[in-house]
Amino acid sequence: MDNAMTIPSQPDLRVALGPLALANPVMTASGTFGYAAEFANLVRLNRLGGVVVKGISLEPRAGNPPPRIFETAAGMLNAIGLENVGVKRFISDKMPHLRTCGCRIVVNILGDSIDDYAALAGHLSAVAGIDALEVNISCPNVKKGGVAFGTAPEMAAAVTRAVKQETDLPVIVKLSPNVTDIVVMARAVAESGADALSLINTLIGMGIDARTRRPRLANVIGGLSGPAIKPVALRMVWQVASAVSIPIIGIGGIGTAEDAIEFLLAGATAVQVGTANFYNPGATEQIIDGIADYLRQQGESSVQAIIGGLRLGA
Ligand SMILES: Cc1cc2nc3c(=O)[nH]c(=O)nc-3n(C[C@H](O)[C@H](O)[C@H](O)COP(=O)(O)O)c2cc1C
Repeated sequence: MDNAMTIPSQPDLRVALGPLALANPVMTASGTFGYAAEFANLVRLNRLGGVVVKGISLEPRAGNPPPRIFETAAGMLNAIGLENVGVKRFISDKMPHLRTCGCRIVVNILGDSIDDYAALAGHLSAVAGIDALEVNISCPNVKKGGVAFGTAPEMAAAVTRAVKQETDLPVIVKLSPNVTDIVVMARAVAESGADALSLINTLIGMGIDARTRRPRLANVIGGLSGPAIKPVALRMVWQVASAVSIPIIGIGGIGTAEDAIEFLLAGATAVQVGTANFYNPGATEQIIDGIADYLRQQGESSVQAIIGGLRLGA
């Protein structure tokens, strides 16, 4: 039989993150795509699997003083300090446009305490047009001496339970890579009722200007993102996918369809594109098209067929 006849013309790109169905597996990563309106002239938003908005806190935050961004070899450091408009203005000023995007809207939330996360989940659950919450646990717990929620399994579990209790929306918990064993964190969160996991957030790094002998960021340390972190992210996604049964969103240095496909093969059900939006605003659409091309070339009729398809052994 002519091989061309067996290859589907339009592969099925649909995936499901537990209760959250996506038209395709490509989303934007929190903090790299604003509130979507900033990219409306650059990207056909209704083509995206989903948009994850900049992290939202109960009160507005000014963030850190500049300089807040520094380009590194194959990546960037940022210490934005979670600047955002706060939940009230997010709902009144940002949601009206987000409702018109024609793709899934995921709201990333952050807090200083478990009560903050619970209150945010409660507020946002009552808002039309939000499809899921993504819980950023890479934040210091002010009540526990500033230890990040995402580095202590019992705190990550407590945040997950508190958010789940306040909302019927699907809850995605976003893991920090700044831990000794990512699998311990993933298990703690999965066992506490998370519907999906996203990983990874940025790796903590720093830069120094040898000429001035000063740090590159006013905050001294910041989060490393971009192609430089991809191998670490891929390894963590693979380890977590082997250990938990809830779906995973792979994040970290994804800039091309090939990058995204590597994460899907490692076991991710979907991916988020972050830093690439800064140097190639069209990256997300190119990645969607590139995944479809790859599936056609491989003779696969759906993206589901390659998820977790990493070949091991001889
Ligand atoms: C400028 C900037 C701001 C970010 N803000 C957030 C945020 O508000 N909440 C969050 O969970 N992650 C935030 N992140 C992390 C990204 O969503 C993503 O996890 C990380 O950058 C790794 O993906 P990438 O290598 O594709 O950028 C931010 C990253 C960058 C570069």
